Amino acid sequence: MHTLKVDLGSRSYPIHIGSGLLAEAALYRPHLAGAQVLIVTNETVAPLYLATLRSALTDVTVREVILPDGEQYKTLEVWNQIFDALLTARMSRDCTLIALGGGVIGDMAGFAAACYQRGVAFIQVPTTLLAQVDSSVGGKTGVNHPLGKNMIGAFYQPRAVIADTATLATLPQRELSAGLAEVLKYGFIRDAAFLDWLEAQLPALLAREPAALAHAIRRSCEVKAEIVAADEHESGQRALLNFGHTFGHAIETGTGYGNWLHGEAVGAGMVLAADLSARLGWLTAEALARVRRVIAAAGLPVAPPSDLSAERFLELMAVDKKVLNGQLRLVLLQQLGTAVVTGEVAPELLRATLD
Ligand SMILES: NC(=O)c1ccc[n+]([C@@H]2O[C@H](COP(=O)([O-])OP(=O)(O)OC[C@H]3O[C@@H](n4cnc5c(N)ncnc54)[C@H](O)[C@@H]3O)[C@@H](O)[C@H]2O)c1
Ligand SMILES: [Zn+2]
Repeated sequence: MHTLKVDLGSRSYPIHIGSGLLAEAALYRPHLAGAQVLIVTNETVAPLYLATLRSALTDVTVREVILPDGEQYKTLEVWNQIFDALLTARMSRDCTLIALGGGVIGDMAGFAAACYQRGVAFIQVPTTLLAQVDSSVGGKTGVNHPLGKNMIGAFYQPRAVIADTATLATLPQRELSAGLAEVLKYGFIRDAAFLDWLEAQLPALLAREPAALAHAIRRSCEVKAEIVAADEHESGQRALLNFGHTFGHAIETGTGYGNWLHGEAVGAGMVLAADLSARLGWLTAEALARVRRVIAAAGLPVAPPSDLSAERFLELMAVDKKVLNGQLRLVLLQQLGTAVVTGEVAPELLRATLD
């Protein structure tokens, strides 16, 4: 097992990464606020891992709520089922929510923990690659609105992240690739040496070689933890983590939640952001080609859906949270491994990228 720390003063918490952690009772115990636990999971993950997690939670009352599976259910209506379960079981303020699943479950359970009785303890037990390298760390929680992705939510940190890498064995290949999008993102924005390593190791990662996956998860969590510790509420550098996401969220909203996976939309979004960076004269044609090649090699799309017009794209991007004072802010690459946030992109260049 490898343990990292997200350094947030009195709200600091560990990220445990390793194979078989799901069943390790000692990892949960220090983070349970009281004797009541509600596990939030979904109908796909429950049959695979719920019993194992339950068996690790001894001497506490454990209930569960099993939500429907899919991004299209990341809604206020479905989210409310968590409160139905909490209140039906008369869970008190010292209860603990445990999110068992991918990013959808983690985001919804975390947001419920932030709101139930104005805040109760919660633990992230991520079971997708994407959730293990990204969404379970950093405290962004929330749900979608039909008009915009993740538009309703809160910053609310977990008490611990317990990432059992053995759970990745059952993950569909398409989901594995989607997770690799976020892993590649860390290389593009922050760590050129990691990008080199990833490029070389993509076949091993796609074949789920445990050592390669473990390293990718660990390095990704290190970068994320560092950025979150420096800028928890995204007033500065945390925004760099949105590389590819303003374009990606537009694809997700524009195609209807759940049709394109988040990671797939981010994959195509990163290519668009790199294309725009090249148009600004920052990235060389060679570097842009490499971005496209690596993303394709990870099994991800490198272009948005052809039926999403440039007009619709711009409309959708205008709703994105990265808009400040009416100005669209984009994360672009100055070179591979270095990203910046900019609000000054000539509209005709953006237009050219989208066309
Ligand atoms: N909070 C954040 O900082 C943050 C960061 C990135 C993404 N996100 C959010 O995360 C979501 C995407 O997360 P995701 O990619 O994990 O999607 P997901 O939660 O939908 O999980 C993907 C699929 O895999 C299934 N699954 C989960 N674990 C499994 C396992 N071990 N074996 C087999 N199947 C398994 C799920 O049931 C689902 O069908 C999006 O809603 C996105 O907005 C949040
Ligand atoms: Zn993301």
